[in-house]
Amino acid sequence: MTTIQDPFKLFSLWYEEAKADDKINDANAMNLATSSWNGVPSNRMTLLDSFNNEGFTFYSDPQSRRGEELSDNPRASLCFSWDSLKRQIRVEGNVVLVDNNKETPNGSVLYNVVPTNVEFWQQNDSESYDKIFYRLENSKWENEVVDAQNAENPLIGRSKISA
Ligand SMILES: Cc1cc2nc3c(=O)[nH]c(=O)nc-3n(C[C@H](O)[C@H](O)[C@H](O)COP(=O)(O)O)c2cc1C
Repeated sequence: MTTIQDPFKLFSLWYEEAKADDKINDANAMNLATSSWNGVPSNRMTLLDSFNNEGFTFYSDPQSRRGEELSDNPRASLCFSWDSLKRQIRVEGNVVLVDNNKETPNGSVLYNVVPTNVEFWQQNDSESYDKIFYRLENSKWENEVVDAQNAENPLIGRSKISA
């Protein structure tokens, strides 16, 4: 079975397809989940600023609930949902402030989610879906295909979905 070894490459492929899809207005919209020092979760929509092999960045007011929670508990989970493509990506990781970060005029600062786990899911039809789970182990990305109907190339081939 062919799988892409690196979740950033697969993210990039899917993100480009989401940006090119007329039915998706904000391909960069993502749900950001944080939790308080004592484990109370909260989430909200946020815009992805950029991504590369080091992580996924977004701007936030450090005085907001998310900013306060990230200061107390620097872990976050992101969820991208591109309904017309029947795709979802979940990212979990540690959050760091970007180096030499200067506050913007509106008081926001740039945060980077450095992923430890990334899950890609796509629905093929009402009965089948593909799912692949990546986790960082000893600085190397391992992946596990949890379920895949497109055995040749589980997350790229969309032969069962009409455009
Ligand atoms: C599609 C979408 C994108 C959003 N992007 C942002 C964003 O990038 N930054 C932001 O501060 N609020 C954004 N919001 C609004 C926040 O979700 C909302 O203000 C939330 O209450 C902030 O919660 P917090 O204080 O717990 O972080 C967005 C909302 C939507 C629906």
